[in-house]
Amino acid sequence: MKSAEAFLTALERRFRLLAPHALATFDANRELCSWLLDPLARWAEAAYGEKAFDEAALGYARYCLGVAQAQAIYERAGRYTPEAMPEIVSGVYDDAGYMIPYMWAAILIYAFWPSMIGHLALFRDDFLRRLPPGAAVLELACGHGVLSLLAAEERPDIRVTGLDISAPAVAVANRLLAVSGHAERVHFGVADALHPQEAGRSAGYQGVVSAMLAEHLPTPKPLFGAIAGYLSPGGLVFFSAALESAQRDHVFEFHMESEPLRMAEEAGLRASRLVSDASAVSARSRFLPRATAMILCAR
Ligand SMILES: C[S@@+](CC[C@H](N)C(=O)[O-])C[C@H]1O[C@@H](n2cnc3c(N)ncnc32)[C@H](O)[C@@H]1O
Repeated sequence: MKSAEAFLTALERRFRLLAPHALATFDANRELCSWLLDPLARWAEAAYGEKAFDEAALGYARYCLGVAQAQAIYERAGRYTPEAMPEIVSGVYDDAGYMIPYMWAAILIYAFWPSMIGHLALFRDDFLRRLPPGAAVLELACGHGVLSLLAAEERPDIRVTGLDISAPAVAVANRLLAVSGHAERVHFGVADALHPQEAGRSAGYQGVVSAMLAEHLPTPKPLFGAIAGYLSPGGLVFFSAALESAQRDHVFEFHMESEPLRMAEEAGLRASRLVSDASAVSARSRFLPRATAMILCAR
């Protein structure tokens, strides 16, 4: 049975240049990374066969190159210069050829990027392990669905609904779900995070997850109102966002940690924990790519 190392050996085989960096993050956080990558390797092999690891490595490499190029353009332009939303929807979210490799990368960065490892710890230790017994959890923009599946793996008592605007991403999530053993307690559907009719209900969740979504929305403010509305009294939110990090589908430019925090506060939420870490960039950069994550609850 495959384990975490299968992703690293595939990266070493297919794109050696990126392997030492990923391995360093993995080695420094072995227990936490394995918490993600061991079950993911099992599900990936069962759902896609042996080729999953090479495809994940290539998806990760393509993503890292895309990020480096986008950051260079950002540096020159001085602001994000995204395509119009309809082009992002057709060229990214609706395009399986783009979306599937992207989804492998989106989950691998949690274990391979120093800026994301703190998110994994916060998600497991301060969100999942603190949810009340039998919690109903809603994940907005679940993408690959792996955070929802890990939630079900960690907490056998909870139920999870994951929604994403991208049909190809939800197809990946459903393929992993089918082999995960969690099909009774996890449901994935295609829906806009701000209009989640698919969820079957619009409030009363003891846990809400919104990971790396806000920067994809032209105006993220309504997202926080929606999150506050979905949350039941005493519930917990895991929220995260990218700052000063250009990517093809990043349309809202956060510069400061205080910006998403303030939007959350204005929606009636408050933060009980916050992490923010930078990625390695040259000292001459005007922008410092970071990823922030917070635990929010109702004020
Ligand atoms: C960077 S991925 C994050 C996936 C996952 N949450 C994670 O943390 O790895 C961004 C996701 O947001 C989804 N997305 C973008 N706009 C959305 C919207 N309005 N409603 C729901 N999902 C959306 C995309 O399809 C994509 O799966």
